[in-house]
Amino acid sequence: MARLLVTGGAGFIGSNFVHHVIEHTNHDVIVLDKLTYAGNRASLADISEERLTFVQGDVADAGLVNELVTAVDAVVHYAAESHNDNSLHDPQPFLDTNLIGTYTLLEAVRKHGTRMHHISTDEVYGDLALDDPVRFSENTPYNPSSPYSSTKAGSDLLVRAWVRSFGVAATISNCSNNYGPYQHVEKFIPRQITNVLRGLRPRLYGEGRNVRDWIHADDHSSAVLAILENGRIGETYLIGADGEKDNKSVIETILTLMGQPADAYDHVSDRAGHDLRYAIDSTKLRNELNWRPVYQDFEQGLRATIEWYRNNEDWWSPAKDATEDFYAKVGQ
Ligand code: NAD
Ligand code: TYD
Repeated sequence: MARLLVTGGAGFIGSNFVHHVIEHTNHDVIVLDKLTYAGNRASLADISEERLTFVQGDVADAGLVNELVTAVDAVVHYAAESHNDNSLHDPQPFLDTNLIGTYTLLEAVRKHGTRMHHISTDEVYGDLALDDPVRFSENTPYNPSSPYSSTKAGSDLLVRAWVRSFGVAATISNCSNNYGPYQHVEKFIPRQITNVLRGLRPRLYGEGRNVRDWIHADDHSSAVLAILENGRIGETYLIGADGEKDNKSVIETILTLMGQPADAYDHVSDRAGHDLRYAIDSTKLRNELNWRPVYQDFEQGLRATIEWYRNNEDWWSPAKDATEDFYAKVGQ
């Protein structure tokens, strides 16, 4: 049994990971989360205080981070500003949290010799052409497009440098787009589901030919746990579940599963610098750590996610109006 510090554990993927750890291991968890607009304490409300300690605070607060790192056996670092659209309108928090926050954590684990796993995204690699048979691998050169992905790329490079220069015991994973419960309504899939539930039309950026490689958040969690337990120090692992879909077909599937005509959505203006396609080759993770995704059927996972949003309106409703106000202002 170990004690884990999970930064960003009140966010979408972090809270799914905390649930996964509580359910599948004996580990106890300390969550450090600033509770920005994206964090929600209610996402962890069903977990007993015997297994979970919640600390509200900033990952860039060196004193606090230092104190928490001394109390744990390992750190899993999810805390980040995570939304591309926000990064195009106000990049500053992305620099503060994604770069300075990661640096602050690295200095603390360096000081105490603590194992760390850094969570990152496939967006650090830029994008692929729609008709390119190639997928991202651990050897793909970094080429990020947005303030979000460039600060995530920078955070990955900091981790690599701290491993090489200071012998920090860290691993990195870069995962594709996640879906599942507890995802903020600003993101693509929950935005469309909650629009339909509210009687609003889904919104597709541009023509919707952009491809994302979807993975269920619980599969992401099992992969992170496998890397934390058996990954090789200093290594990067790509996480993906062979789930490539274009945005137009995802919107049409959501509408169909929710009993609406498949074309009952609006086209809105495209995202600046919009990455065309992400696709992950996760051979290394599968071969080295014998990891396999459980959610192989996207439509089934989507149906369960729709049901979750249908049954948890109290969870998402408070954020919906402000999110749609923001999108209305920027014409999306
Ligand atoms: P999210 O926005 O839902 O959650 C981020 C969490 O971090 C929130 O709870 C927020 O309160 C917290 N946070 C933000 N700034 C903080 C700070 N300075 N100090 C402490 N806590 C802070 O994000 P998410 O989608 O769950 O993403 C989590 C991680 O996974 C990020 O590192 C992201 O880059 C990575 N990732 C996300 C995806 C995806 O599809 N969403 C895919 C691959 C990787
Ligand atoms: P998003 O969930 O923001 O994730 P990311 O930018 O990290 O891939 O968006 C997923 C895709 O959906 C992306 O191509 C942008 C597109 N999109 C829409 O078409 N409509 C929307 O309302 C949103 C939020 C995103």
